[in-house]
Amino acid sequence: MEYKVKNIKLADEGEKLVGWAEQHMPVLMDIRKDFEKKKPLEGIRIAACLHVTKETAVLVKTLKAGGATVALAGSNPLSTNDAVAAHLAKEGIHVYAWRENHEKYYWCIDQVLKIKPNITMDDGGDLITTIHTKKRSLIKNVVGGTEETTTGVNRQRAMEREGVLEYPVIAVNDAMTKHFFDNRYGTGQSTIDGILRATSLLLAGKNFVIAGYGWCGKGLARRAAGMGAKVIICEVDEIKALEAAMDGYRVMPLREAAKIGDIFVTVTGNKHVIDSSALKNMKDGAIVANSGHFDNEINVEWLEKSAIDKEEIRDNVVAYHLKDGRKIFLLSEGRLVNLSAAEGHPPEVMDMSFANQALVAAWLVKEGKKLDNRVYSVPEKIDREVARRKLKTMGIRIDKLTKEQRDYLKGWKEGT
Ligand code: ADE
Repeated sequence: MEYKVKNIKLADEGEKLVGWAEQHMPVLMDIRKDFEKKKPLEGIRIAACLHVTKETAVLVKTLKAGGATVALAGSNPLSTNDAVAAHLAKEGIHVYAWRENHEKYYWCIDQVLKIKPNITMDDGGDLITTIHTKKRSLIKNVVGGTEETTTGVNRQRAMEREGVLEYPVIAVNDAMTKHFFDNRYGTGQSTIDGILRATSLLLAGKNFVIAGYGWCGKGLARRAAGMGAKVIICEVDEIKALEAAMDGYRVMPLREAAKIGDIFVTVTGNKHVIDSSALKNMKDGAIVANSGHFDNEINVEWLEKSAIDKEEIRDNVVAYHLKDGRKIFLLSEGRLVNLSAAEGHPPEVMDMSFANQALVAAWLVKEGKKLDNRVYSVPEKIDREVARRKLKTMGIRIDKLTKEQRDYLKGWKEGT
């Protein structure tokens, strides 16, 4: 079995981590039981480019239980858990991932594509982009792809707009049972987790500046405020800015927030959001981190160029000494702080995100051939099934509409 991981001897440690995640991902485990019986992915080859975490391992083992052959590359140079990767390799998954694979990142993607996938599973879009640019001969085998994150969906929508998308993609990110929970509660908690594990500092009383008030920003703001931080939101979208203001946060341009912030986090999906103009104005000792998919939200090149010295203070914390005497602390090289300094989103939310991935993969096998080369939403039936299953595992029951109410909602004659 072919794979490349840091150290296969870490497999037992990885198995324990994955077992812990399995206990907290009951929806996906139920789907695994269904898959074991029905084998909806029999004979299907899946290439995945996902963060190699204990939660991803639960998904990959579920896909395998459904009959798929899976090859897995990490979707960020710093997000792989080496013990989990070793466990998956031992379980017969073609894993090409290890932490700090900066130079070999695309080599790993090339290796997983050797399986000639029928389905691609992306988190960020690097797999689909590689296929469409450098490995075009693979397109004919692919029935469809799935995309886990906002940034990837944006890239695939751009491909669709330019007319270059050559197979259908299902935007798993856009499922309600994904972004309402994963992006909001997952990113909210795991970003704080990453910052705390990296810095071991107090949040209470700090000016905590968040660039971006999408679902991730909203979740992060609420968690930071809950820990006593004074949250400041920076936005470019007037509606989101208004929402942030009415949610009770201070809203101001980044150039103003730069002067007063203690901790800065980007969650925008855009480039150079914290640029030299903001970095030049920050206080001595400011802490800067990113929780968006790519490492270009903070202008790290400017820090690299302008610093007279750079020193690693502790794991995931680097101090940049600037000419004017200030120090700026950058966490996790400006890469996803929640996955590099912590373990990513907790299993309970990944349970729903990855339940969508598994059910969509099985659906693609059945329905993929009928689809056009477009970006599709997750079928509402799947989204609601995930919600129903999750509620059941949480022991929560809900009400049902009566016939009278159903008829009322369909009608128009009954008024004032
Ligand atoms: N993205 C964010 N958190 C994650 C996790 N725990 N596993 C996989 N992908 C993630």
